[in-house]
Amino acid sequence: MKILFIGDIYGRSGREALEAHLPRLKTKYQPDFLIINGENAAHGRGITSKICGQLYDLGADCITTGNHVFSQKETLFFIGDDPKLLRPLNYPEQTPGNGYGVFTTSAGKKVLVANLMGRIYMDVLDNPFRVADTLLDRYKLGKDVDAIFIDFHAEATSEKCAFGHYMDGRVSAVIGTHTHIPTADTVILDGGTAYQTDAGMTGDYNSVIGADKDVPVQRFVRGYAANHMSPAGDTGSVCGTLIETNDATGLAKAISPIRIGGRLPSTEND
Ligand SMILES: [Fe+2]
Ligand SMILES: [Fe+2]
Repeated sequence: MKILFIGDIYGRSGREALEAHLPRLKTKYQPDFLIINGENAAHGRGITSKICGQLYDLGADCITTGNHVFSQKETLFFIGDDPKLLRPLNYPEQTPGNGYGVFTTSAGKKVLVANLMGRIYMDVLDNPFRVADTLLDRYKLGKDVDAIFIDFHAEATSEKCAFGHYMDGRVSAVIGTHTHIPTADTVILDGGTAYQTDAGMTGDYNSVIGADKDVPVQRFVRGYAANHMSPAGDTGSVCGTLIETNDATGLAKAISPIRIGGRLPSTEND
């Protein structure tokens, strides 16, 4: 099974880049399942039901998020009615919405997608390692489901690496999000789990992690900034990761980075 994951969509540049390049990626790679992280899709902060609809129209089978999931307050009210839109599973139990879902592909294969958030330099939620253990007690890869994909939304590379190794052999893929810069470590770990520390964002890279650069630079230089941050508005790059799993075991056979458009070097030159 081929799973295409697209990293954090950041504002209009990200949405437009996705619209421009996703059809070509879908034609070339023919993914069986498409996951998009949409936590910054609405002007850099959160997501709206309208944007969810746009991502579903583009073919998203599942939308993951992260610390910005509730940055648009409307999300608190509609996420409970949308099982394809996930928030981090390790929020407290009463939190609206779902942290994971089991979805069926058009070929009848079952894909479990879970969204978890790290705790280093982030709001401290429940322990994501323990929460993942509890989930995986219920769902065994290759028995209960055909693939398990985890979007691990975290700041610290150490926590992401540790989580990847802890999941190794139990899930198809652990792909990091949140830091918005693609890392060069697309690997299959010893136990067969595909891993990348961060898929990178989908947005304008002439920016500070998606935001127009002036305000964040001012903030670092002066210690304060006079204005609020807003998304950078030039041409965006689509960043993501393609994973291929073994249909018998659910473990990974291949993983490769995807980059197209904007100012980053492209993986799609053919
Ligand atoms: Fe993000
Ligand atoms: Fe984030």
